[in-house]
Amino acid sequence: MENKRENWGSRIGFIMAAAGSSVGLGNIWRFPYLAGENGGGAFIAVYLVFIIFIGVSIMLAEFAVGRKTGLAAVGAYKKINKNFTFAGVLGVLSAFFIMGFYPVVGGWASAYILKSFTGLLSNPAAIGDVFGEFIGNPVEPIVWMAIYLVVNIVIVAKGIAGGIEKAGKILMPTLFVLLIAIAVRSVTLPGASAGLDFLFKPDWSSIDGGVLLAALGQAFFSLSLGMGCMITYGSYLSKSENLPSSALTVSLMDTGVALLAGIALFPALFAFGLEPAAGPGLVFVVAPQIFASMGGIGVLFSALFFIALTIAALTSSVSLLEVVVAYLIDERGWARGKSVYTAGGIMVVTGILSSLSLGVMSGVTVFGVGAFDFFDILTDKIFLAIGGLILAVFVGWFMDKNELKEEITNGGKVSFGLFDIWYNLVKFVIPVAIAIVAFFGITGIEQTSLMIFGVGIIVVLGLFSKKL
Ligand code: TRP
Repeated sequence: MENKRENWGSRIGFIMAAAGSSVGLGNIWRFPYLAGENGGGAFIAVYLVFIIFIGVSIMLAEFAVGRKTGLAAVGAYKKINKNFTFAGVLGVLSAFFIMGFYPVVGGWASAYILKSFTGLLSNPAAIGDVFGEFIGNPVEPIVWMAIYLVVNIVIVAKGIAGGIEKAGKILMPTLFVLLIAIAVRSVTLPGASAGLDFLFKPDWSSIDGGVLLAALGQAFFSLSLGMGCMITYGSYLSKSENLPSSALTVSLMDTGVALLAGIALFPALFAFGLEPAAGPGLVFVVAPQIFASMGGIGVLFSALFFIALTIAALTSSVSLLEVVVAYLIDERGWARGKSVYTAGGIMVVTGILSSLSLGVMSGVTVFGVGAFDFFDILTDKIFLAIGGLILAVFVGWFMDKNELKEEITNGGKVSFGLFDIWYNLVKFVIPVAIAIVAFFGITGIEQTSLMIFGVGIIVVLGLFSKKL
């Protein structure tokens, strides 16, 4: 079976696909609003520390596990140690949960392509209200979510190299260039410097357990870590690929785009006198106002920006769908088509629930939160970070150090002088660091019952690991 496994079409193809998975709504939609809600500079500083000391190492570990086993998450864990099968299954569950809300936001981004042309920018004062009314509408955002999901389904149904790779190669550079252009416009607005201060002058007193957990969760979310996504991508990787440099390149690109999104949005946000803690609507409210300030050409910029955002989201969400699909193919023996359509069908239902929870169904809650927040908080605040902790323990304590070195250096062909530092980070530092942040974050958060529920799921999966 293994030698029939598809491979990435080319070296650059893999980097672009992995960067495509990482760079998405997490960078442009979520990072700015989390930074805004959590005090700006201090959050960003902590976030960067987590990326450097935890994110890059975990990404390398995931690549290594995936390529070594040649299997997607569940199979990879199972092959090495059956007690850890549950960590793979937790990853598949995380993929489902993230796909419970991600396509809703992907749908918003797609809708805004059209809205750019239909008068959104002509009344800047109304842009905030337009967003609020749009996401609460019981029909419109659901139609867009469904369109967005169907595109995902088509791409993943076509298979790995063909579908995912092509989309990433073209659109990633476009997005980058656009963000730079928007950032230039943003920092040249009168009053913009307050935004740069907010981003880069940390107020350390704003840091507490909740901020740390938000930064850690965001580091995992943004880099697509902690749920086997990069294990799965790594399993399609050729034996000659340089793993450490791939992990570093992807992490740098991802962090670069997130910071760029911050630099594009916050100066403008302050220039327009808006609230940094505006929440999930931030990019959908601030970016159109920037475009409105550009005059006629703004419409073009707006459409291009939301096209690029939609594609960035797509190259991420296809990786999430792929995690589920790879599991069904590898572990359940399903055909690709059947796997994609079944998983996609379930995601349509969860997407509808999430979207409605922001409007007509806002009164319907589980553990005190609506469907959208349920999926979001469970993955971002618990599953991914704990998934990363389990992976680190697994790699550090249950895999053979020499075999890891073989894998990571391609049997000695790649020199990786930091191997011992990486190994000790993964074995000792990262598990302890995640445990501490998770403990203080989870105990300090408002949604205590939801957190207990989440931890409960992990424990139950763990107890039944050998049966999974
Ligand atoms: N990283 C993507 C983003 O920033 C989202 C994503 C894709 C993801 N695959 C993932 C998040 C796996 C966590 C795990 O938008």
